[in-house]
Amino acid sequence: MKSLVVNASDAGYLLAFAEKPIPKIPKGHCLVKLNAAALNRRDYWISVGKYPGIKDGVTLGSDGAGEVVDGPKEWLGKSVLINPNIEWGDNPEVQSANYSILGTPENGTFAEYIALSTDRLVEKPAHLSDTQGAALPLAGLTAYRATFTKAQVQKNSRVLITGIGGGVSHFALLFALAAGAEIYANSSSTAKLDKAIELGAQAGFNYKSDDWVKQAGADGKFDAIIDSAGGNSINDYLKLIKPGGRIVTYGSTTGKTEGLDLFRLFWSQASIIGSTMGNDQEFHQMVDFVREQSIIPAVDTVFPFEKGIEAIKSMTTTDQFGKIVLSF
Ligand SMILES: NC(=O)c1ccc[n+]([C@@H]2O[C@H](COP(=O)([O-])OP(=O)(O)OC[C@H]3O[C@@H](n4cnc5c(N)ncnc54)[C@H](OP(=O)(O)O)[C@@H]3O)[C@@H](O)[C@H]2O)c1
Repeated sequence: MKSLVVNASDAGYLLAFAEKPIPKIPKGHCLVKLNAAALNRRDYWISVGKYPGIKDGVTLGSDGAGEVVDGPKEWLGKSVLINPNIEWGDNPEVQSANYSILGTPENGTFAEYIALSTDRLVEKPAHLSDTQGAALPLAGLTAYRATFTKAQVQKNSRVLITGIGGGVSHFALLFALAAGAEIYANSSSTAKLDKAIELGAQAGFNYKSDDWVKQAGADGKFDAIIDSAGGNSINDYLKLIKPGGRIVTYGSTTGKTEGLDLFRLFWSQASIIGSTMGNDQEFHQMVDFVREQSIIPAVDTVFPFEKGIEAIKSMTTTDQFGKIVLSF
């Protein structure tokens, strides 16, 4: 079967297509024929050698939607989504030391077939196509935990979500809106801000503009801020957070923070809270929430699987709103 793998000997992007045998399934496992698989920023980080645990020859890809073609009869023929968590462990608060995410170091979803334990599968919500379903698992799970477990967003919470075009952030927008929160967004792109407003955000601010913090704070501060940009933006968020509010960070796309404004942090009684992925229970809650609320992920671009390398390279820029998906 055709697989998109890490090619550690490449001088440029560490990517190649390889032929691998269709995996054999142990008892209690299913063979899933992939119909679609979504890209995540980690696939890009791996392709440029900036991710821990990169292993030559490993099939990339954390997200997938497909059909069970072999395995226990109660699963046969089902349309499924894949939970990308491997060994979260027993503590719902934090992942175990053995935790990893499908697609490095374990073989992932950028292949025609994958063998998985049945406890990694969930039925695809019927209102989603395969490409929409594939867009959901990793980014949806990260957004769900960041938005509800960590930021504690609820009806009427006033929330700022940054970098709204991102795969995870657009799910945070959709989830928080479905919960009845009042959402504000920032972005580098006016078109993405317009799209966020079209989806239900109250207003948007361009973080490239010198006075965006002033604009964002003009009508009041925020109960929660959900961010993956990191860098020195955190000091801007400390100006915008309500006393006692929560700043949730799940990424550091722009790098480390230099000179954290500790005075503002302790005086405002605010919290800066880290969040990564989510436990298996949150994964199931997230999929149920998407089903109940009929949430539809934004799929920006669909590439045929054969163009997977081109698709990952396209993440050099962040022109997309939502997710990039491969179709098999
Ligand atoms: N901890 C976890 O479990 C976890 C899970 C998933 C992702 N992540 C990390 O979270 C980050 C986002 O992942 P993703 O998959 O959503 O990536 P993505 O789809 O590529 O989105 C990245 C977004 O970052 C925004 N951005 C860049 N610079 C910014 C700035 N200065 N201020 C505000 N926003 C900025 C951009 O938004 P605009 O285009 O709107 O400007 C861009 O669209 C990555 O660093 C990723 O590694 C962590």
